[in-house]
Amino acid sequence: MQVVRTIDELADFYGGSFVPTMGALHEGHLSLIRQAKDLGSPVVVSIFVNPTQFSPDEDFSRYPRQLDEDIALAEGAGAEAIFAPEVDTIYPPPTHQEQASVPNLPSVATEPGLEDAKRPTHFAGVCQVVARLFDLVNPHQAIFGEKDYQQLSVIRAMVEQEDDRWPNLTIVPGPTVREPDGLAMSSRNVYLDPQQRKDALGLSSALLNAQSALSPGDAEATMHSILQDHHLEVEYAVVRDAKTLLPIENYSQPARALIAARVGTVRLIDNMPM
Ligand code: PAJ
Repeated sequence: MQVVRTIDELADFYGGSFVPTMGALHEGHLSLIRQAKDLGSPVVVSIFVNPTQFSPDEDFSRYPRQLDEDIALAEGAGAEAIFAPEVDTIYPPPTHQEQASVPNLPSVATEPGLEDAKRPTHFAGVCQVVARLFDLVNPHQAIFGEKDYQQLSVIRAMVEQEDDRWPNLTIVPGPTVREPDGLAMSSRNVYLDPQQRKDALGLSSALLNAQSALSPGDAEATMHSILQDHHLEVEYAVVRDAKTLLPIENYSQPARALIAARVGTVRLIDNMPM
């Protein structure tokens, strides 16, 4: 396995499967790397804590960083290359001749009123970094976790919109990996104290219970009540069209339930099909 730090070294790994991450790798990331391996070699994993997707009040500076451990984990899961770039490689300074082009933001990033409502600049930063990474890594397929369902939808829409920029690229979803008790794995779970860790189970429990509701309205009511029982501060707990993420009246089309809630200062998200 090779640790790649410069753009030129990436040429050896064009045309493979790509797993973009911000590091602090856990079993969720590793499952995407194993899935990438099945889709086709070479497997490239990027590790870059992207400053442009954090707002000033978010956890950019305290986001967990553990590059040496991550390199070993990614290699164990089958990665052939780890791309761990410097900020200037991803965002060339204004004086530099090469400039990265910033993609248009798809409507699924701005219209649903989900992550976009509380984190208005977040998906612009995600699209900016992912577009740049696609240009540099040149993958045939890129794997994104369903854990971040709106992010997956945004990236799919971005690639569809810019089909002459990445004509041979397929976006592949990876299923959410959970702890044995149901909590979706996340690099941010390390922030939870023991009581918060228990309360956090409200998200998966709310989603599971909502699956037996007969209408989106009933499912939303079920989720709110379970989240409240777990002392969680709800940002949203909704059932939406699985593709557009816009509100729906009934279950005549594929639907997805999505939750964002705070336990103390820690913000957690989760989702499931309905
Ligand atoms: P990060 O949070 O590190 O996640 C990297 C990838 O792992 C994403 O596709 C995410 O959906 C997936 N993932 C996280 N937890 C998962 C779980 N429990 N099960 C399955 N997959 C999971 O998402 C980002 O980084 C960044 O926004 C990025 C796309 C790298 C752009 O900076």
